Amino acid sequence: SDSVQKELRSPICCIMGHVDTGKTKLLDCIRGTNVQEGEAGGITQQIGATYFPAENIRERTKELKADAKLNVPGLLVIDTPGHESFTNLRSRGSGLCEIAILVVDIMHGLEPQTIESLNLLKMRNTDFIVALNKVDRLYGWKTCRNAPIGKAMKLQSKDVQMEFNNRLTQVITQFKEQGLNTELYYKNKDRGETFNIVPTSAISGEGIPDMLLLLVQWTQKTMIERLTFSNEVECTVLEVKVVEGHGTTIDVVLVNGVLHEGDQIVGPIVTTIRALLTPHPMKELRVKGTYLHHKEIKAAQGIKITAQGLEHAIAGTSLYIVGPNDDLEDIKATAMEDMKSVMSRIDKSGEGVYVQASTLGSLEALLEFLKTPAVNIPVSGISIGPVHKKDVMKASVMLEKKKEYATILAFDVKVTQEARELADELGVTIFIADIIYHLFDQFKAYIDNLKE
Ligand code: GTP
Ligand code: MG
Ligand code: NA
Repeated sequence: SDSVQKELRSPICCIMGHVDTGKTKLLDCIRGTNVQEGEAGGITQQIGATYFPAENIRERTKELKADAKLNVPGLLVIDTPGHESFTNLRSRGSGLCEIAILVVDIMHGLEPQTIESLNLLKMRNTDFIVALNKVDRLYGWKTCRNAPIGKAMKLQSKDVQMEFNNRLTQVITQFKEQGLNTELYYKNKDRGETFNIVPTSAISGEGIPDMLLLLVQWTQKTMIERLTFSNEVECTVLEVKVVEGHGTTIDVVLVNGVLHEGDQIVGPIVTTIRALLTPHPMKELRVKGTYLHHKEIKAAQGIKITAQGLEHAIAGTSLYIVGPNDDLEDIKATAMEDMKSVMSRIDKSGEGVYVQASTLGSLEALLEFLKTPAVNIPVSGISIGPVHKKDVMKASVMLEKKKEYATILAFDVKVTQEARELADELGVTIFIADIIYHLFDQFKAYIDNLKE
């Protein structure tokens, strides 16, 4: 047998499921944060990442199993939106992870984006566990803060236990209808064939220890090859974002290898890493806060990179590092291939509105939403970041072609004073919202008004 202990990297885990099942709240519960309450409309509209060091997982699971072996350095968890508009972000998240948490609201059972998520996982053959969340909503539930689920369940009345079992059975049946066997994890004798269900509450924390331990134990047991640390850099761009004081930055997931300050990187652009930033452990990368600076960072980690020229980076593409023996032109060619496939999803027709968003991920989501048959708004131009005069100029081109399209749909971005003045002067209408479908409502009201 192998006497040399292999060095493992942290598993990457993606949390997915229907809107409002409690994905962000579950992470808040582990982090001790309040990210969810800061979200516009309480819905997640961006992909996020949080690093959980093993020592924190140890602390959180000691009541369940104090002597559990944790061979991985931690867990990197990717949060995704559940709203139907964000299929691309669910796809991006699930494409990166070794394991997923599929969150199901025990009061609702399987819902449309549960099934969509399930299909994404099946397509890539990605392993997952089910978090059957909001158990505290069972009528008469006795809170047992942060307790292992077995202990919490024993404390419940017969009625609560019965309601739990009924709802659990319904969910298992619904999974069966999707062609999947599932079972409560502590009753599951056929792990691997039958997917594990962990009951949880994101509000009072019951079952969180079980969920964490199961993720770590299952990945370090069944995915040793995949989790073995390698020096070969594997890195994906999650989001391209303008951050005050840093210019355009990229949020990346470093899946394997090591990144250094000063590394030459190739995406659609060739540039040099100026700063490698991470949030503090147990803090969300997508939330503005204080960043830690690093000279180098080892996988797996969620990282914010600052560098020149990042406005040309594209979310969803790989980032390549130019090593001492690498040919820059070869790497550029590979990066171009990646970019083409992403760009092809953004179609620019001749006539249409101008669309602007804070990140490429949300821009993609907005474009996807505008394309759906029920909405069907053509788009002629796109941009990321605050609305500037140049954007108003571009949108104003439609004044001569199709006046009602001389509009900017601005999602989660600021409009500069000059841009607003120019828009008033030229007759370009700017709609601003921080929830995607509110933009549609505003635009529709405007069109209906024009027709009258
Ligand atoms: P999206 O990211 O928008 O898809 O939603 P989400 O799955 O991240 O759900 P979120 O964390 O935003 O929670 C949605 C709502 O459910 C919030 O009002 C939460 O407070 C509530 N909630 C989440 N988890 C629980 C839970 O375990 N118990 C109870 N009672 N409420 C919960
Ligand atoms: Mg969320
Ligand atoms: Na939500």
